[in-house]
Amino acid sequence: MMLNLTKMRSLLDARQPTYALPQGFYTDPEVFSFDLAAIYARTWIFAGFDVELPKPGCYLSLPIGRSSVLIVRDRQGALRGFHNTCRHRGAQLCATGRGQRSWIICPYHQWSYDLDGRLANAPRMPEAFDRAQHGLRPIHVQTVAGSIYVCLAEDPPAFDAFRDQLAPLLAPHDLGNAKLAFESTMMVRANWKLVMQNARECYHCGVRHPELAVTFPVKGRRPVQLADVARFDRFRARMAVAGLPVGPVEGDWWQAMRFPLNDGATTISMDGKPACARLMCDTANGDIGSMRWGLEPHSFAHATCDTVFMFSAMPTGPEETVVTSKWLVHKDAVEGVDYDVESLTALWTQTNSQDLDLCENNQRGVNSIGYVPGPYCEEAELLVMRFDDWYCNEVRTYLDRAASDDQLVPMRPRLASVTAGGSRGS
Ligand code: FES
Ligand SMILES: [Fe+2]
Repeated sequence: MMLNLTKMRSLLDARQPTYALPQGFYTDPEVFSFDLAAIYARTWIFAGFDVELPKPGCYLSLPIGRSSVLIVRDRQGALRGFHNTCRHRGAQLCATGRGQRSWIICPYHQWSYDLDGRLANAPRMPEAFDRAQHGLRPIHVQTVAGSIYVCLAEDPPAFDAFRDQLAPLLAPHDLGNAKLAFESTMMVRANWKLVMQNARECYHCGVRHPELAVTFPVKGRRPVQLADVARFDRFRARMAVAGLPVGPVEGDWWQAMRFPLNDGATTISMDGKPACARLMCDTANGDIGSMRWGLEPHSFAHATCDTVFMFSAMPTGPEETVVTSKWLVHKDAVEGVDYDVESLTALWTQTNSQDLDLCENNQRGVNSIGYVPGPYCEEAELLVMRFDDWYCNEVRTYLDRAASDDQLVPMRPRLASVTAGGSRGS
C-alpha cells in the first residue's frame, strides 16, 4: 500500500504544539496505515516477559498492527524473533498466544522450521529447492532484566541506553523468578493515540478512578508524583538506604522511575496492601513504592513489591485498539493460598474498564464535525504533550526520509538474509 504522505504532511502542519491533535490523526484510515508503517513497524515494542517462555521450544506470538511476530526460545535457550509468516505462501505459523513446540510447523502445507528459524523440511519440493534461502525472516529481540522487546525495523532505534538505564531499576524485582499470573485483552473502540494520551495523564484520575486514587498519587505533574519535592526526597533517601535506585531516567522513547505511593500504601491495589503474600521484592518490607517504566508508542508497566503490571495498546483499526494487560507474581506464589486472581487483578481491571469508557467517549466527541483541538493542561498533561511531540517528530522524520528515499514510501522491508537467526536476547 502506498502511504498518503501529502496528507500526513498537511495534518502535521495543522498541528499546534501543546494542543490536542487535529481530527484526522484520530480518525483517518490512511493515517492508521501510516502509523503502522512509520510508528509501530519502526519502534521497540514491549512484548512481554522472559518467564512466559521458560523452556526451549516455548513461543509467544503477538500482533503488531497487521503483522504478527513470533518470539521463540531456541534449543540453546536464547530468544529469537521472527515474522510469523510462512516462507511458502505466507500462512500465519502460530496463532496469537503462547505454546511450546519442537518444530514450528506451518498448518497449511506442513513446511517445518527449526527453532532457530531454518527451514528443515518442505514436503514434495524438488531436490534442487534451496531450503537455506527460505528460513524464517528474523526480527530484532532484546531483553532487559526479564522484560522482552521486539522491533520490526531492519535498523531499529538504539537500545543500549534504555537497557543500561532500566536494568538497575528493574533488577530488584527479580523477574527471573516470576510467573505470569493473569493476562487479559480488551477491545477499545478508540484510536490508539487517544488510548495512549489517556494513559499518559492523571488529570482524569481523581474523579474517574476513585479506586486508583487510593494508592496512586493522582495530582502529580506526571503520572508519578513529583509535585511534593520534599516527600520525594524523603522517599529517595529511604530507597538509597534500601539500595534501590529511583531514577528518573528517560530517553526519546522511554521513561522510568521509582516513585512513592500514597501514605499507607505499599502496592497499587484496591486497599494498598499486597494482593500476593509472596513478594517479588521484599526489600524494606516491600515498602518501595512503584517502579514505572513507559515506552512510546504503546506501553507502561508498574513493578511494585508484590506484582508487575504491564499495559500494551495495539492498533487494530483507525478507531479500534486492543489493550493487553499482564500480571506477574513470584513464581512460588500459590494461587488460592498466596493470592487469588480476582483480588490481584481487581484494581487495574477496574481502571482499564473506566479508561475504556473514557477513550470511547473521547473518540465519539473527536468524530464530531464540531471538534476543534483544545489546549493541554501543562500542570497535569505533561506526558501527553511529550507523547504528541514524540509522535509528531517520528512522523516528520519518516516523511523526510521518504522524501529523500523512494524505497521508504511503500515501507516494504527488503528481503534481506533469510538464513540468519534472530537477534539474541541479552
Ligand atoms: S503456506 Fe506454509 S506450508 Fe504452505
Ligand atoms: Fe485512566
